[in-house]
Order: sequence, then structure tokens, then C-alpha cells
Amino acid sequence: MLNNFPAAAPDPLWDLINSFRADGRREKIDLVVGVYRDASGNTPVMRAVQEAEVRLASAALSKSYRALSGNHAFNAGMANLLLGANAPALGRQCTIQTVGGTGALRLLADFIARISPGTTAWNTDPSYVNHKPLMAAAGLPVRPFRWIENDHGLDLEAAFADLDAAAAGDVVILHGCCHNPTGIDPTFEQWKEIARFCARKRITPLIDMAYQGFGEGLEEDAQGLRHMVDQLDTVFVAASCSKNMGLYCERTGAAMVIAPDGSFLGNIRSTLENITRANYSMPPDHGAAIAVSLFEQPAPWREELEAARRRVADTRRSLADALATLGAPERLQVLRRQKGMFSLLPLDGQQMERLRLEFGVYGTAAGRINIAGLLPGQIDTLARALKAVG
Ligand SMILES: Cc1ncc(COP(=O)(O)O)c(C=O)c1O
Repeated sequence: MLNNFPAAAPDPLWDLINSFRADGRREKIDLVVGVYRDASGNTPVMRAVQEAEVRLASAALSKSYRALSGNHAFNAGMANLLLGANAPALGRQCTIQTVGGTGALRLLADFIARISPGTTAWNTDPSYVNHKPLMAAAGLPVRPFRWIENDHGLDLEAAFADLDAAAAGDVVILHGCCHNPTGIDPTFEQWKEIARFCARKRITPLIDMAYQGFGEGLEEDAQGLRHMVDQLDTVFVAASCSKNMGLYCERTGAAMVIAPDGSFLGNIRSTLENITRANYSMPPDHGAAIAVSLFEQPAPWREELEAARRRVADTRRSLADALATLGAPERLQVLRRQKGMFSLLPLDGQQMERLRLEFGVYGTAAGRINIAGLLPGQIDTLARALKAVG
């Protein structure tokens, strides 16, 4: 069986990470990896998380199996975080803990494939690299729609023109905030238009919320999602605690299904549990237990998250200012209005290669840079490099 099969395609991101590590230049800049970094270049464990871990260790609870849906207090806390405490929609949602945001996306894709085989998933173009493989692995056909900017911000007309080909019952993948890789987010008015469009076309949003708290703030970043939930019968949400709690390797996330009313919730839960049972059975508990602790005493965690959000926003602003001072082309300066950790530079593969070879600046070949990877002392260097190649 193992004698004759081809190697799977290597992950281009890991190739870049390895080249960065092998690069001997002291002034090299790593903007590839999609994690938050502080001003010293570290991806720290949040203090609030460390304190929660101490509390959990000393309480020494059992490591016995947990429920198939994971930690119930975590699920309730995530529902509140996403929908808002006391939101009416809390009465018509089913949330279950998953193995990171990735696990939530895959579980929802499997759920959609189970209840409505052949559903097309519409994916932003450009998109998060793993959306298409995740949907395709569940057997869902994937089609692209443009997610680009006009002179003011998101070009919703372009998106709607492509989505016009969607059939009733299709699913559209949207990023709740901080679109990866472009940083292009809808305004609240645009979220309203998207909700009206989905209602008219009878297409169901699957909202990937991987960066809540990194755009405008924890509550602000959920406004679009909350509006969609208020306006539409059915919404799928995949949430990740990797970035906003810094729980990357603990693999902590949640899948939420919002139904037309509460009478469907039992069937939804049993179907979601049935899918995870045939996969990993139940999710790991540690990250969820930490999250519950953060939900119980939210202030310190929220403050740390807000400080991280500010650092990214300030870095973005400083980079845009530096580009403006240098007189760099306007098309480079639009990163000022984008949100979250990422921006997609308007540079082609060759220009990205020049950045890497001549200036030691590592972004992805498609032009994505992680603003959170930029240290304070590197902003001017990056601006000069961008101006030189762009
Ligand atoms: C848009 C988006 N969705 C989902 C994920 C996956 O999150 P997790 O690491 O929690 O699986 C990421 C991670 O980078 C992401 O950028």
C-alpha cells in the first residue's frame, strides 16, 4: 500500500518560514506567520491565561472524559461573546466546542454536507488559504467571489456581481472581522447590505470569526455578525480562541449554528456530536477551561487583548505614515484603512521576491504581510523597501 503514491504538495508558508530561519541577515523581517507578536517579537502567553492555568492546576480537577460537545460553560461563554449577553438569538443557537477555529470550519462543512449534500460554498477571492481545502475535504464544491477594494473600501458591487450566480441554499463564507489576507472589512452599512442580499438570494452565511478583538474591539468586531444573525433565519459561525486569547496550540474554538427557532436545536446538537464522534470524539479540555476562567473574570484578559489590538493598529498607522512621508504610491498607502493583523500588498510574486532577496523582508508570495510581526525599529526599513519595489 505504501509503495507507490506521490508526496502531498508542500505548504508554501512553511517553506518561507524555513527560508527565513536560514537567512543570516540581522536586519531580516518576518511578516509571514499569522500570529500576534509583541513589540519584542514574542508571542507571549497572556498574563490572564497564565493565572488561569495556575488556578486550574491547583484545583486539580479530574482528567476524565468530557462531553461530546466539550465544556458547557465554554460553549455558553462563546455564545455570549459572539452574540452579546442577553441577545434574543441566544435562544435559537447551538454552540459546541471544537479543535480550534479550523475544527469549527471543518465540523460546519461536514454538517452542511450531511444535511444538504452538494451545497456550494462561496469563498472570498483572495481567501484564507485553508478555507477551500476545508470545504472541499467535506465534499462541498467551492466557488470564488471577489473581495477587493475600490477607492473607498470594500467593493461590494464586485462581490455581489459574482455572488449573483449563487443558488438558493448555497453558503457564503464571510470573515467576521479582520479579513485574512486582505484586511478589507465591510462597514456596518455594508453588513446591512450583505444581510439583505443573503435574505433575497436565500443564501446562508458561514461567518469565520478568527480575530474578534483585533479589529475595533471585542464588541465592535461582532456587530456585523450580530446584525446578520438578527436579520437571517440561519447562520453558521466558526470561532477561534487562538488569537484573542493567545491559545494557539491549545486548539480551542467553537462551532455555532443559529436556527430559525429553538425547536431545531436538539437535532442540530445530536448531528454535530455524531460527526465529531466519528472523528476525534470530544475536543481537548485545557484551552476551554482557561477560556471559562477568562469569561468569569474578563477585565484583565480584555485589557491585555486591547493592548495587543492597539499595538497592531498603531503599527499599521506608523507604517502608513512612513509610506506617506516617503511619497510612496497611494496604492501602497491604502493599508492604513484596513483592519487586523493582515494586509495584502499590491505586489506580484516577483516584487515579493525582491523584497525578500534585496531587503530580507518576508511576506507570502501572494503579497500578504502580518503587520503584527513588525517591530517598532523595523517600520522605516519596511517602508523604504516597499517604496523601492512598489
Ligand atoms: C480566517 C481564519 N480562519 C480560521 C483560522 C484557524 O484558526 P485556528 O488556529 O484556531 O484553527 C485562521 C488562522 O489563522 C484564520 O486566519
